[in-house]
Amino acid sequence: MPGNEVIGKEEFEEIQDIFQNGSVLFRSGFDNLRNNRYKVKKFENDFALLMSVENALAVSSGTAALRVALAALDISEGDEVITQSFTFVATVEAIVESRATPVICNINKSLNMDPDNLKDLINPRTKAVIAVHMLGVPANIKEIKKICDNNNIFLIEDTAWGCGGSVNNKKLGTFGDIGTYSFDFAKTITTGEGGMLVFKDKKVFEKASAWHDHGHENNPSVPRWADTRQSSGFNFRMTELQGAVGIAQLKKLSHVIENQRLNKFLIKNELEKIDDISFRDIPKGSYETADALIFFLDSKERANNCREELLKQGLGTKILPEAYTWHFAATWTHIKEIFEENPKLVDDLNPSRDILSKAVSVPIGVNMNKNVPQYIKNAVLKTIN
Ligand SMILES: Cc1ncc(COP(=O)(O)O)c(C=O)c1O
Repeated sequence: MPGNEVIGKEEFEEIQDIFQNGSVLFRSGFDNLRNNRYKVKKFENDFALLMSVENALAVSSGTAALRVALAALDISEGDEVITQSFTFVATVEAIVESRATPVICNINKSLNMDPDNLKDLINPRTKAVIAVHMLGVPANIKEIKKICDNNNIFLIEDTAWGCGGSVNNKKLGTFGDIGTYSFDFAKTITTGEGGMLVFKDKKVFEKASAWHDHGHENNPSVPRWADTRQSSGFNFRMTELQGAVGIAQLKKLSHVIENQRLNKFLIKNELEKIDDISFRDIPKGSYETADALIFFLDSKERANNCREELLKQGLGTKILPEAYTWHFAATWTHIKEIFEENPKLVDDLNPSRDILSKAVSVPIGVNMNKNVPQYIKNAVLKTIN
């Protein structure tokens, strides 16, 4: 939980600043009370600057960010939205909540969307693709973007696990029409709960901004109670407390990523000495956020045994193999909408299952005991022998 590891006095001071200046916890208005403190607005501006975009919108969670993104692109009943088999349930929940049909694409050995399978799934009902940069490694985003452009389909990047990563120096989340981020307790930076969207098009930003606030356009020429409106919406607003923490956390993002990259390098360096494992594919030009190091053993049993050995060494794994069902669409029989239009989906996702069932994901943190790479190597060697 990298963001959580670096929480310190800076976050506290940002919060204190609110309570010393009017204690306004709502993101806008009450101008006479707040002594020019607008924490959410500042967090959005700082985030937009870091991502080299014009517009960012803070929301209450990463799941909310996805739901707002779909609303801003007018995606609704009758539309199909393609996402990938390996993601958190939230990606599909947002599609279901928007009343569109989720369509599930296989992953390849990068553990992200397989562009070849994506091409096969596109049809006249396809309105958008949600590509996920899963667990710190960029999706094959340039190829996916080309496919979307060729088919006139919106591209949303679920960057919940990729905040601060890039491909050829362009930040993840800024390739498509909208990028979404999560700041929940497990993410690279955290506000407890929270999310962000970045936009290519200002009009889409304005739509999203209104939709996340009941349709309020926050028209500066009228008071909020007389505000102008053109659409319905919902309440996905971020609070000033979250915004304050976000301002401080954002300043620590590069420190978090640099440390994680170094720690990942040190662990991989040890594991590369073992012949019988292979590693996740990393697309060319990637700058990873390095949330996890994922490698493959030759069977599901060995992957599970490896976790047991890691636990014995006082270490753990992250999502794979233990929580794979929460992150693999073929197992989500509780979400009936996934299977309604494709009853044979479970079989169609066999290529993904084959890859995921042999994978082990080692969490990477900001702070690491120097013996950890050796312990991990020992656990893997014990599993293999
Ligand atoms: C890929 C992905 N998308 C979206 C989310 C949802 O984010 P949040 O927990 O902030 O709602 C998560 C959360 O883990 C995630 O892993």
